[in-house]
Amino acid sequence: MPTFASTNPARPHEIVIELPHHGPDDVDRAVASAAAAQRAWSRRPIPERAEAIARVGEVLAARKAALADLVSREAGKVRIEAGGEVQEAIDMAAFVAGQGRAAMGEVVPSELAHKLAWTTRIPIGVVGMITPWNFPVAIPSWKVFPALLAGNGVVIKPSELAPACAVAFVEACVDADIPLDLVQVVHGAAEPGAALSVHPGVGAVSFTGSVPTGRLVASAAMAHGPKVVSLELGGKNAMVVLDDADVDLAVDGALFGAFGSAGQRCTSTSRLVVQRGIASTLLDRLADRTLGLRLGDPLDPETDVGPVITNRSGQRIMSMVEAAVADGATILTGGGLRVDVPACDGGTFVEPTILVGMRTRQRAAREEIFGPVLSVIEVDDLDEAVEVVNGVELGLSASIYTRSIDRALLGVEAIDTGITYVNAPTIGAEIPLPFGGTKHTGNGFREAGARGIEQFSQIKTVYVDYSGRLQRAQIDNRADP
Ligand code: UN1
Repeated sequence: MPTFASTNPARPHEIVIELPHHGPDDVDRAVASAAAAQRAWSRRPIPERAEAIARVGEVLAARKAALADLVSREAGKVRIEAGGEVQEAIDMAAFVAGQGRAAMGEVVPSELAHKLAWTTRIPIGVVGMITPWNFPVAIPSWKVFPALLAGNGVVIKPSELAPACAVAFVEACVDADIPLDLVQVVHGAAEPGAALSVHPGVGAVSFTGSVPTGRLVASAAMAHGPKVVSLELGGKNAMVVLDDADVDLAVDGALFGAFGSAGQRCTSTSRLVVQRGIASTLLDRLADRTLGLRLGDPLDPETDVGPVITNRSGQRIMSMVEAAVADGATILTGGGLRVDVPACDGGTFVEPTILVGMRTRQRAAREEIFGPVLSVIEVDDLDEAVEVVNGVELGLSASIYTRSIDRALLGVEAIDTGITYVNAPTIGAEIPLPFGGTKHTGNGFREAGARGIEQFSQIKTVYVDYSGRLQRAQIDNRADP
């Protein structure tokens, strides 16, 4: 079987794991095994499934340091953020386990006597999951735990750029006594992902990744379905800073939102929409702080910004920066690709880049960049800020900095995104609340939160008539008033 290697983005000659390139036959086998294990799993009471999920959380917690190191090595995420990501998966296990004893349906009074009417949740069967490299432990946890709670089997196709993290996640499931075979993983790039999306044994496909791939996955899945398809796609997240904002707070937020995880979160702040009166003060301070960020090995505690995931990704980011400059934008900080960072032999780094003088029609101001690049757009007032924020096709996250409660709430009301923050950056969504976006960011589903189970289950409506006689529904037999 052909193999591929995942490497450390900081030192691409360092192999993290070597794995087989799975094809459609392997996907077949994985789906069949997950389906076989699912039958017994779905018969277990939900609180018992929840206990097993809680045990996975305990195993992840016991392995937190090693897993965080692995995330840093394989995805290039600085160590404190990698630890935060593993913690997110641990928290997700606790949260989903708690849902195992929470209400899962509704009971309504029947319109007939001696009759009960309620809903419950039933599993879909086998869920196919295609997960990205940028949250290689947390995103599988957002999908796998609710899918298991709902009684499904699972086949994950992780990004070929961070598969070792998925392998470690599945090992934690197995070591926590999740039935062997229930959670499968297949490896490779487009081929196993495509085979999984169209597989007749897969009842639902949950995808997190780019808009073009999401479209392909969804249309292929529907053409072989219909199936439940949930999409979590890109962001072009904006931070609005109004002229009454606390400037230092906004600078801290922009720095963390734009350059945390080297800008490689789907929630990263990639546009700074600033009211003209405050722009020069804000940009001076932000540029100063940005120039102080240290590039380096993600495992070095002194490092602020790690590498981008691949050299190709770095080239793509730079081409967007260059196109913006050719179109009249000016580089305030950064703007360069670095392959000479100490202790990172051959790793590709993009200098934290701030582009000013951006116009809203420029590609870099409209499309997801997925790198440490912040496009600054100046506006006259809140209305124009909202128009800019909403003037893109993606609608994941946004934030607004102001000291005025009225302007904050007017902004929250008018901004068309799935997540909106006030006086906080666009990253940092918490798992007990739904995560997802509007417009081309998704197709209406939300992950995490109390309703995170919805994309992985079907509703069953149940009526029980214990009157002992035929009670005819929807027959108008009442006396006229
Ligand atoms: C992602 O980048 O795909 O809100 C998810 C955040 C994180 C999740 C990001 N909790 O930034």
